[in-house]
Amino acid sequence: MDRCDPTHPTRHPRKETMMSFGLSRGREQDFDGYGLLREDLPPIADGDWDPRSLFEHRDRPFELEIGSGKGTFLVQQSELQADTNFLGIEWAGEFFRYAADRIRRRNLPNVRMLHDDASEVVSHRLPDGCCHVVHLYFSDPWPKTRHHKRRVMQDATMRAFHRVIAPEGELRLVTDHDDLWAWYEDHAARHADLFAREDFERPESAGEGEVVGTNFERKFRREGRPFHAMTLRRRERPLGRP
Ligand SMILES: C[S@@+](CC[C@H](N)C(=O)[O-])C[C@H]1O[C@@H](n2cnc3c(N)ncnc32)[C@H](O)[C@@H]1O
Repeated sequence: MDRCDPTHPTRHPRKETMMSFGLSRGREQDFDGYGLLREDLPPIADGDWDPRSLFEHRDRPFELEIGSGKGTFLVQQSELQADTNFLGIEWAGEFFRYAADRIRRRNLPNVRMLHDDASEVVSHRLPDGCCHVVHLYFSDPWPKTRHHKRRVMQDATMRAFHRVIAPEGELRLVTDHDDLWAWYEDHAARHADLFAREDFERPESAGEGEVVGTNFERKFRREGRPFHAMTLRRRERPLGRP
């Protein structure tokens, strides 16, 4: 057995059980077998890391969620889409632990969480064409101009998304933030050779009147905010290139 073999939750050698007095309100959290830390991944020098290897049925379609927060989308959608494997990447430790513990308690065999920077993982770790869908919902808007470089969406990440998304696969974007939406529209227009813009189709797990049904959507909906959503479909062959 490798140092880390998350396909066998009970035999994962590191058991991370901890008390958190933030999100979990003092309840013990355990992400053993369902949550991976950056140091669990093989060294970068070993080349690409294929997240599909985390799952028993690794040949099934694979979807990635960036910035999963409390993991609500993953929990809801993975139960309805049991033949698809999902990975959520979340860099805030408290949210990562909360989501991974939630997934463990529900014993969801087709979901895992990774505690890492998703932009780095997408750009430097994932193999070509591994993702059928990438979900980016209510990403942090970083409104100050000097912080725009911290947004997940950048020209370089658009190129990385095109590399890791399978032919005809999708990048799905939802936000409440007008300025981030304008940023998405600019990026979509600038990279129209790589992705075709389409209407966003609500996932089956979205509740009545919801766009996608994440925690942030529910919170912002109570505040009466409007939402923006689009799907970018990967072009098999970039436009204008042989
Ligand atoms: C505003 S919250 C939205 C959470 C969830 N998607 C929802 O809609 O409820 C954005 C989340 O993305 C995470 N995040 C932001 N940038 C990230 C990155 N580069 N890699 C992984 N997680 C990231 C944040 O820590 C935060 O939990």
